[in-house]
Amino acid sequence: MERYSKILNKDQREIVLLIGNGCKWSKCKFCNYHLDRCNDEDKQYKINQEVLKKVTGEFCVLEAINSGSIFELNKRSFSELLNICTGKKIKRLIIESHYMYRTKIKELREKCSKLGIILQVKGGIETFDTDFREKVLNKGFGYPNLSDLRETFDIVNFLVGVEGQTLEQVKKDIKIGMENFDRVCINLYKEMDDIMPADEGLKEKFMKEIYPLYKDNENVDILVDNTDFGVG
Ligand SMILES: C[S@@+](CC[C@H](N)C(=O)[O-])C[C@H]1O[C@@H](n2cnc3c(N)ncnc32)[C@H](O)[C@@H]1O
Ligand code: SF4
Repeated sequence: MERYSKILNKDQREIVLLIGNGCKWSKCKFCNYHLDRCNDEDKQYKINQEVLKKVTGEFCVLEAINSGSIFELNKRSFSELLNICTGKKIKRLIIESHYMYRTKIKELREKCSKLGIILQVKGGIETFDTDFREKVLNKGFGYPNLSDLRETFDIVNFLVGVEGQTLEQVKKDIKIGMENFDRVCINLYKEMDDIMPADEGLKEKFMKEIYPLYKDNENVDILVDNTDFGVG
């Protein structure tokens, strides 16, 4: 498992894949990333400390993800992350979180702001088709409206290529995402054991019709393979 990398093509930044206590939701039908978890506090801290030691601060931007939400890191790991950010003069920190932590997100924005760090929160919206998100993907967001989502997230993650999705929906999602958020990150669905089936035909259509339109767009990350950021 690679836990440190640099993203050089767009929005240059360092990225760390930390390990946390595990996603508290863990019920999304398409996800088994949450299996990357560690409840042993010392072990978790040791792994995260080793990874965080590699951060140089060369771009002043750090993305710190953890196969769940940032609030699922234990306290020591979380403090170490903030220490590294201040020590290495990180000016912008990108983290991921589920919508259920929206109150904590507000608090963290304030805390980071006091430290001189701009916090950008990436949320797994997956699609703006709320019924699909809740009834098929089982995301557990409930039914927030666009303005609630904008208040919580700066960057949105979309999932492309699960059974039941259409290309029209994907096009619409990207358009709404780009109009309302700083950046969008498109994840081509990777079917793995015990998760829902992929629609390989839809993925092919995406690569042919949509990928060329956005591949060079500064505000759009596209993970054709889930390790394209160099971690995972
Ligand atoms: C693992 S979650 C972590 C962040 C947070 N728990 C959330 O749900 O927003 C980050 C993103 O990974 C993507 N993802 C999850 N499972 C995937 C899979 N099997 N293939 C491709 N992308 C996946 C989803 O788009 C999801 O929003
Ligand atoms: S997508 Fe995020 S919230 Fe859903 S199970 Fe995976 S890590 Fe948890």
